Amino acid sequence: MNENKPLSLGVLISGTGTNLQAIIDEIEAGRLSARIAVVISNRSRAPGLERARRHGLETMVIDHRGFASREEFDRQLAAVLNRHGVELVVCAGFMRLLSPVMLDAFPNRIMNIHPSLLPAFPGINAQRAALQHGARWTGCTVFFVSAGVDDGPIIIQAVVPILPDDDEGRLSARILCQEHRIYPYAIRLYQEGRLELQQRRVVVRGALLVPPDQAWLNPPLAAC
Ligand code: GAR
Repeated sequence: MNENKPLSLGVLISGTGTNLQAIIDEIEAGRLSARIAVVISNRSRAPGLERARRHGLETMVIDHRGFASREEFDRQLAAVLNRHGVELVVCAGFMRLLSPVMLDAFPNRIMNIHPSLLPAFPGINAQRAALQHGARWTGCTVFFVSAGVDDGPIIIQAVVPILPDDDEGRLSARILCQEHRIYPYAIRLYQEGRLELQQRRVVVRGALLVPPDQAWLNPPLAAC
C-alpha cells in the first residue's frame, strides 16, 4: 500500500448512512487520506444514498432481490467495486452477509462495524440483546470481515456503559456516537499501513497503549 496515496474506498450501505457521513466528514476535513470511489446500497430507498449524492459521490443501487443467490449478488458487487478501482471495501450499516465470492475478491480488504463489543452479541439487534442480557458495558467494534458472522479480526473497539434507565434508542444513539469516531480512525490506520494481521489478531503499529492498570467499573465503587 502506498501511504501517500489517498485510499480508494467502496462504501456499502443499507440504511441511514451516518457512518458513511462520518467517513465523508473526515475526508473533507483532511484527516483521512481517502476518496470514496462509489457508494453502493442494496436498498433503493436507503437515506444514505442522498447523503452521498449531496457530497457529489457516485452512487449505485444493487438490489439483492434481483439475484438468484448470495454468490451471484456478490459477483456483481465485486465487479462494480473492481471497476471503480476500490482498494478497501467499507460496510457501513450494510445488512447483508458476504459470501466467499466477495471475501476472495477482497481478501482482508473488507471492514465492517458492529454495535456491540464483539464477540458478545453478534448478529442483528445487538443493542437490544445487550440490554436484555443485563450487561453493564457494551460498545462497538470495527473488524475485518471473515467467513463467520461478525467474527473477523478486531481492529478497534469503543466501550459504552449501559445505564439503569437506558432503552434501546438511547443506548443505540450513544453507541453510534462512538461508531462515528472509531470507523474513520480504523480506515485511517489501514491507509497509513499500520494494521498488521497476525492470524486472527490485528497488531496496530505505533498505537498508543491503554494504561495497563486502567479499568472501568459499572457501577463504580462507592466513595469511602
Ligand atoms: C450501525 O449502528 C452499525 O453498527 C449497524 O447498523 C447501523 C448503521 O447505521 N451495523 C450492523 O448492525 C451490522 N451488523 P448507519 O446507517 O447510520 O451508519
